[in-house]
Amino acid sequence: MTTQPIIEARQLNKTYSIDDRRIQVLQDVSLGIRAGEFAVIQGSSGSGKSTLLSLLSGLDRPDSGTVRIQGQDITKLSEDDLAPLRNRTFGFVFQSFHLVPSLSALENIMFPAELNHNPNAADEAGKLLERVGLAARGPNMPHQLSGGEQQRVAICRALINRPAIIFADEPTGNLDSRSGQAILELLLEFQREYHTTLLMVTHNPAIAQSADSRFQLADGRLAPPVAN
Ligand SMILES: Nc1ncnc2c1ncn2[C@@H]1O[C@H](COP(=O)(O)OP(=O)(O)OP(=O)(O)O)[C@@H](O)[C@H]1O
Ligand SMILES: [Mg+2]
Repeated sequence: MTTQPIIEARQLNKTYSIDDRRIQVLQDVSLGIRAGEFAVIQGSSGSGKSTLLSLLSGLDRPDSGTVRIQGQDITKLSEDDLAPLRNRTFGFVFQSFHLVPSLSALENIMFPAELNHNPNAADEAGKLLERVGLAARGPNMPHQLSGGEQQRVAICRALINRPAIIFADEPTGNLDSRSGQAILELLLEFQREYHTTLLMVTHNPAIAQSADSRFQLADGRLAPPVAN
């Protein structure tokens, strides 16, 4: 296989300073993920999984090292150049949903499409809602929805611009096992259908087993990838 990875990290280092203490959270982390893959990041709490995801997705910058997305080093991009990448190339799903509380379910899903000047935002958001079984819930506000329903809305929002990559940080972490399983199946269904690359942080060994590749973080370092 010689295809260039869609996500390629080289020698990432990240430290946080608290008072006068410096914590090295990531040390010389390198990885490659191919387009269309389902990859997972595993590791104990505090091992740096969310930090790594935020570096790979341009939400934060490394102290040193490079992150190439579709060949482009995003660590050098300005905030203005990162914004469209985050909106169009990436979709995000977080453990705590992160819906905008003052917008309805439908409006939350439409939001990234409107930023992208898509005139069919409402139509496409409605179709996605229907697809995840929430057709009647469009006008509802997030607080009127269950956790599993909020996460389905968040997935629709992540998908509406047909991103090349979905970053999911413990997307089932706040859900019971049944809704968690449903969310996982939904993400994998869309990943296959849209040929999206899915990079997921998970503590769930069964989910990790089903991935195309696994990355294990321990003490800020990455073990060699495990092919399933
Ligand atoms: N903004 C920050 N400032 C200082 N320290 C931070 C910051 N963000 C994270 N850390 C520290 O970096 C380390 C890694 O945090 P991170 O959130 O990446 O871990 P994680 O593997 O995602 O953990 P969890 O499984 O609990 O979500 C932790 O020790 C954390 O306390
Ligand atoms: Mg985390």
